[in-house]
Amino acid sequence: MRVPVATTSHQYEVVLGHNFLAEAVKTFDDKLQKADKLIVFTDANVWAAQGEYFKGHFPYDFEVFVLPGGEACKTFEQYNAAQTFLLEQKCSRKSFIFAFGGGAVGDLTGFVAATYMRGVPFIQIPTTILAHDSAVGGKTAINHPLGKNMIGAFYQPEGVIYDTLFIESLPEREVRSGTAEVIKHAMISSASWLQQLMGAESVIHFSTTELAQQLKAGIEVKAKIVSEDETEQSVRKYLNLGHTYGHAIEAAAGYGKVAHGEAVMIGLVYCLLLSERYGKLDRDFTTAFLHFAVKNGYPFEAVNDYSFEQLTTYLLKDKKAEYGVLQFVLLEEIGKPFVRPIELAECKEIDAEFRQLLAEVLG
Ligand SMILES: NC(=O)c1ccc[n+]([C@@H]2O[C@H](COP(=O)([O-])OP(=O)(O)OC[C@H]3O[C@@H](n4cnc5c(N)ncnc54)[C@H](O)[C@@H]3O)[C@@H](O)[C@H]2O)c1
Ligand SMILES: [Zn+2]
Repeated sequence: MRVPVATTSHQYEVVLGHNFLAEAVKTFDDKLQKADKLIVFTDANVWAAQGEYFKGHFPYDFEVFVLPGGEACKTFEQYNAAQTFLLEQKCSRKSFIFAFGGGAVGDLTGFVAATYMRGVPFIQIPTTILAHDSAVGGKTAINHPLGKNMIGAFYQPEGVIYDTLFIESLPEREVRSGTAEVIKHAMISSASWLQQLMGAESVIHFSTTELAQQLKAGIEVKAKIVSEDETEQSVRKYLNLGHTYGHAIEAAAGYGKVAHGEAVMIGLVYCLLLSERYGKLDRDFTTAFLHFAVKNGYPFEAVNDYSFEQLTTYLLKDKKAEYGVLQFVLLEEIGKPFVRPIELAECKEIDAEFRQLLAEVLG
């Protein structure tokens, strides 16, 4: 399966398959033939789980640089170490980098590729469900002690190779986290798709074929949006559905305690409550959605660990907040997102409604 991505700055393809790494890499042969060196960036967990398969199926010689697992690779220190590695390997502008891992490896690698000698080509080989989102669209970043993703660049890859075989070793919590972004893509694009997800026995244990279809559908939504708006001036903002409140929960918990997508799922329910006021959605739908999320194991208890006052600091840190007014993505109906400024006082009211609804549903 293929999904073309056509941004203003660059055109490329996402190729999707199962157990097809060698074949998939070869589809980029015309580009790789010109490379003087191939480098693979990965993280320790991914390499431990999938390194053998990768070595056995990657069709060319390469050098590997193994980063610390997950978010720990998105630091200035690792950025520096990665650049040092490329220099020591005598990489040139003709070298090619592969990001083999989840969103964290992808973000770090993309930023290294964007800046090494002012830019070298790179290919994303995502290994998480969440990375169907992060590997497409060209946002790259590392974290600063004062804020997540604060240092980065828009830099598109030469391609994305998505082999669903890699997902097989992904811990269930990470599956759950990544699936929240699939659900988000459904919510901003298609009522029937969301209905299908909400009707599924489980969204955490899809078959390989089902999973590939869900990922493809998610990538198509993302590709369409970034082709209209590469640098988040307009419609790309819709991808932030659930992220304003979600980021606050994620940050208040301390990164890692509540996984990104778990927090996004919490934020999605918050946005549904807010959307009841400004769109056509009603409480029955919000309640049904919350039941669906709880059934699939999303950790809503986390909300009760923080007061609204604790969340406020983080809400106001949002890149989109100005003078105490937040910019929320809301839904007119499923598939029809829009952006609306919301004052902090109203956020507090919704937060109270949210806690009450959670008490009713969680018991
Ligand atoms: N650039 C973007 O547009 C964008 C969008 C969304 C999120 N992000 C970023 O993505 C990151 C989150 O990505 P993620 O959820 O993929 O997390 P991740 O990359 O941290 O991976 C999650 C965990 O699973 C491990 N792992 C990954 N693949 C595995 C596999 N196949 N088998 C076993 N273990 C595996 C990792 O080592 C890590 O511990 C965040 O840093 C976030 O800021 C970026
Ligand atoms: Zn996200």
